[in-house]
Amino acid sequence: MTPPSARADGERRIAVYPGSFDPVTFGHLDIIRRAAKQFDTLIVAVLNNLTKSPLFSVEERTGLLREVTKDLPNVEIDSFRDLLVRYMRSRNAQVSVRGIRSVTDFEYELQMASTNRQLDEGIETIFMMTNPKYSYLSSSIVKEIAKFDGAVSDLVPPAVEAALRRKFAAKR
Ligand code: PNS
Repeated sequence: MTPPSARADGERRIAVYPGSFDPVTFGHLDIIRRAAKQFDTLIVAVLNNLTKSPLFSVEERTGLLREVTKDLPNVEIDSFRDLLVRYMRSRNAQVSVRGIRSVTDFEYELQMASTNRQLDEGIETIFMMTNPKYSYLSSSIVKEIAKFDGAVSDLVPPAVEAALRRKFAAKR
């Protein structure tokens, strides 16, 4: 397969994988690894949403993402607090990547992709099917298990598992 950087027009393909990542799971990481192969640069962008109350701060979430993607040279970690399409324009990104686990995900994702298209026709959304191994997995499920001190080692990388333990130990 022709590597993305070998495009005839020389344009560098930059994609953004946006999300809450509270925290990053093996499901996210699977999408990151696969999407990174398809683009020159993949920017994993954490939404700094002031109306939500996440378990991890934006700094903690980006820190964990940096740790678990440190072996992927074309993956960059960033955060944003703007409309996704505006953020993408500011980063010269053409494509937004989203993972889909189920039909339920699809309805929400279709609404979001259509909204983004309405806001900016030049931005494309591509969907990647989550590895079936992780089709049930979500950050919320991971937090629920960790809150009750259950095992999450099959669901998140060791650095995230340790961060969850510290977070819930501090809350107990
Ligand atoms: O991991 P999530 O919470 O499903 O990610 C949702 C996210 C961050 C991709 C979405 O909420 C988003 O892009 N928010 C930025 C604000 C925006 O652009 N909204 C219009 C599109 S719905």
